[in-house]
Order: sequence, then C-alpha cells, then structure tokens
Amino acid sequence: MSKPKILIQLDTDSKASVFDAVVAIDSGVDRLLQYSGIRPEDVRGLVHGAMYTRGPGDLKNTAIFVGGSNVSDGEVIAAIARETLFDPFRVSIMLDSNGANSTAAAAVLCAAKHLPLENSTSLVLAATGAVGQRVCRILANANSLVTIASRSLERSRECVDRLVASGVASDRLKAACSSDLDTLSRVLAESQIVLGCGAAGARLLTSSQLSEATELRVAIDLNAVPPTGFEGIELTDKGVQRGNRIDYGALGVGGLKMKIHKACIAAMFESNQLFLDCHEMLAIGREILAVDKSIASSARRPTIPLSTT
Ligand SMILES: NC(=O)c1ccc[n+]([C@@H]2O[C@H](COP(=O)([O-])OP(=O)(O)OC[C@H]3O[C@@H](n4cnc5c(N)ncnc54)[C@H](OP(=O)(O)O)[C@@H]3O)[C@@H](O)[C@H]2O)c1
Repeated sequence: MSKPKILIQLDTDSKASVFDAVVAIDSGVDRLLQYSGIRPEDVRGLVHGAMYTRGPGDLKNTAIFVGGSNVSDGEVIAAIARETLFDPFRVSIMLDSNGANSTAAAAVLCAAKHLPLENSTSLVLAATGAVGQRVCRILANANSLVTIASRSLERSRECVDRLVASGVASDRLKAACSSDLDTLSRVLAESQIVLGCGAAGARLLTSSQLSEATELRVAIDLNAVPPTGFEGIELTDKGVQRGNRIDYGALGVGGLKMKIHKACIAAMFESNQLFLDCHEMLAIGREILAVDKSIASSARRPTIPLSTT
C-alpha cells in the first residue's frame, strides 16, 4: 500500500501561507506539515526529518514546498534544502515564494501564445519585485530583449546586475527609469510585449500611453487590486483583442498560474528527484498548454526534461 503524500511547507513568514496550504490540499496532498518563520539554520534538521523517515522507495511520497512573501529568503532556504539531500535519500522540492515562479511562468506563457519570444522586444514595468524579476529571467532566457523598468534607474540597474549574476545573458537586458515619461514612451514604442508587475493597486500605464504604443502585440497586467496597473485592461481579460493588441488582466493569467501550481505539487509525488524553480514551472506550464491544445486539436508536444534535486 502506498504511503500518504506528505508535503512539508517551509515558510519564511511568521505565519505560513494559507493560500499555499489550500492549494496543496486541493492538489491531492494527504498530510500538510507547516513550519513558519523558517531561518537558514532551521533547514538541515527539518530536511533530515524528511529524508530518514521513509525508505528510498517511499520517498516520492514526501516533498518540500518553500514559500513565504520574500523570494530572496525562499531562495536561500531552497538552496540549503537542496544541498542537504543526497542519494538515495532525496525528496522533491518546489520553490514558489510569493507565488512568483508560478505567476511569472503563467504570464510569459500567455505572451508566448501570441508571438514568438525569441528576438521579441519586451518591457517589464515594476520589474524589481519578486514576480517581475522572475518574468525578466524567463523572458531573457527565451531570448527576448528585455527592458527592466523601475521608478528608479538605480533599482532597475541593480535588478539587471542581479539577473546577470544569476546567469542571464547581459546582452538580453536593458535598464530604464519608468518615472521619466520620455524614456517610458520611447521604450513602450519599441516594445512588442509589455508586462506590468507593479505592487497591488499601483497604476503603471494610462490607456492613452498604451494606445500610442503601436508595436505592442501583447499587454499583461498582473495587479489584481484596483486601480489595475494598466488603465483599460480588465482584471478578467484573457486574450482580449483590442486593435492589434492582445490583453490579459491578473485573473486572466491566474487560471494558468493555479494549474501550474497544482501540477507542480502533483509532479513532486511522481518522483523524489525534482527541483521546481521558475524554468521548471515554465516547462510544466508548457505541457499543460500542450495538453489543453491537444484536447482541442489532437496535436501533441514533446515532454521537457525537468531539473533534479
Ligand atoms: N495574477 C496572479 O496570479 C498573481 C500572483 C502573484 C502576484 N500577483 C501580483 O503581481 C504583482 C507583483 O507582485 P510582487 O510581489 O512582485 O509585487 P511587489 O514586490 O509588491 O511590487 C513590485 C514593484 O512595484 C513597484 N511599486 C511599488 N509601489 C508602487 C507604486 N505605488 N507605484 C508604482 N510602482 C510601485 C516597485 O517597483 P519600483 O519601486 O522599482 O518601481 C516594486 O518593486 C502584484 O500586483 C501582485 O498582487 C498576481
């Protein structure tokens, strides 16, 4: 008889995320063990508890989810958890602090439905936040030429430096200051994709700024709290055509984000070897879209290999 599926939620916030807990249970987890306020020094002991309690053949029924509102803290926790594992005592790990990876993967996949990312020009507004940085990383690694915009040029340059330090090609990234309206309208005019990753309730573009940007093919606003980030784009927009442009609002992206999140949790209980970060979530999201498409058209796409722990 197979063992119950146990998910160990390591959350860097003082209260573990209710959202992540509900999604875990809805994704088929039998038992959720929640640990909050996780600090780097806590990780090894907790991971040892996951590794040594079940035989290697049963370890695919144990997995670790790293969450919390701070993605940098989550990255540190996930890296220590990953380093702690060794053969044959491995469990799968998913890093989705602040929902940043699943949201960024879903947003980029929505854009990729409408134009090839390779050699496209993209503008990411409020790119310095958790979601924005992941969006920039995925776009640049897909060979889009990405302008990273912040209200502060210094912060956008720091964001470029962080992404380059993490392995993103520097010739794919440019920094811009979105508070400088001439710069903003010039960069918008050159962009085919614009993604708004602003904080809840932060207005980033007016409808006239959007309509003046005639090269734009896709506009995606991830802010779900009124006023929306892009004036005139509704929360529920999901591939809505406005002139030459296709629009998505936060809820329009949210459906795919939820599918990716749930599929990642389920995938961790198929194998004890997975490490799921933004690119692995992108791969899982592509498979979800391919299956959806194949249901619609009987087409099939190749399976993309995932990283291992
Ligand atoms: N649809 C979904 O499924 C989903 C899931 C998760 C998150 N989200 C949404 O995605 C968005 C990004 O999330 P996040 O956690 O990365 O956001 P965040 O860290 O709170 O903020 C992102 C950036 O917004 C800019 N910003 C802050 N206050 C602003 C203001 N008053 N006016 C203009 N810009 C402002 C800042 O950039 P600068 O200071 O550098 O300009 C900040 O780095 C949020 O709206 C969040 O609610 C959506």
